[in-house]
Amino acid sequence: MNLHEFDELSDDVRFNQAAWNRMVACGHALARPARDEEFQDPLKVIDASGWLPGGIAGWNVLCLAAGGGRHGPLYAAAGASVTVVDISSAMLELDRQVANERKLALRTFEASMENLHMLASSEFDMVIHPVSTCYLPRVDQVFREVARVTRPSGLYVSQHKQPANLQASLETHTGNYIVQHAYYDHTPVPPALAPNILREPNTREFVHGWNDLLGGICRAGFVIEDVSEPNHGRADAAPGSFGHRCHFIAPYLRIKARRTGESAKSRLIHL
Ligand SMILES: C[S@@+](CC[C@H](N)C(=O)[O-])C[C@H]1O[C@@H](n2cnc3c(N)ncnc32)[C@H](O)[C@@H]1O
Repeated sequence: MNLHEFDELSDDVRFNQAAWNRMVACGHALARPARDEEFQDPLKVIDASGWLPGGIAGWNVLCLAAGGGRHGPLYAAAGASVTVVDISSAMLELDRQVANERKLALRTFEASMENLHMLASSEFDMVIHPVSTCYLPRVDQVFREVARVTRPSGLYVSQHKQPANLQASLETHTGNYIVQHAYYDHTPVPPALAPNILREPNTREFVHGWNDLLGGICRAGFVIEDVSEPNHGRADAAPGSFGHRCHFIAPYLRIKARRTGESAKSRLIHL
């Protein structure tokens, strides 16, 4: 479903929407569908942290800001009933193409993640949310909307760029990285000077502190059960490379949170 006329988008959202549509057009790595071999054991691919031991067959799952032919199709292949929300029509088109090719059912909505009015309250057993909070200047309304659409005791699994990752320089001339953007600066971080895996080209990205991310998720009505930091660091990597930068500064935080309250269904599902 496309954007409704009454879905007013901010300048930042429109800017990033255009950037992601361009990334699809030029075949950016984050706009590539899941590979054939990943569909052989989709749960293993989507649950690297082992947070879903009982599987997700029959679950109603929202893949939020997760277009691109990867998350939605993999969750559907693992047996979930999937809805994908994304601001990029091109990313959603990749989802629909993959779903068609693999005969998977998917529902797609073009919308910004802080306004999920098209989704019913308590509709989902789980919301998964890949890295994308960095594209909005404020995240409190996003977490409130996620809480609204997640059923009591449902799961919210999200991944975020860590504040230091967005604050620090990408380049190094000395083997060290410098903090070049203040923690409390709410303007977009400086753009990358050259293509870099840690920044998406021509997007506006914003630092969110722990108060906004961890506190925001708790205040919206979740309890955080676990966190993990995917480790991409390599001590022996060349200074300035992705592996070297990630050895100095953890790039991402993955959060497993559970909606407060309890429903009859939650007592039956073994998470
Ligand atoms: C890192 S990608 C996530 C999915 C990607 N396929 C992957 O493999 O990681 C981030 C996604 O966030 C989406 N996005 C950016 N701003 C958004 C917003 N305000 N509302 C919804 N989606 C947004 C982008 O269009 C993009 O598809």
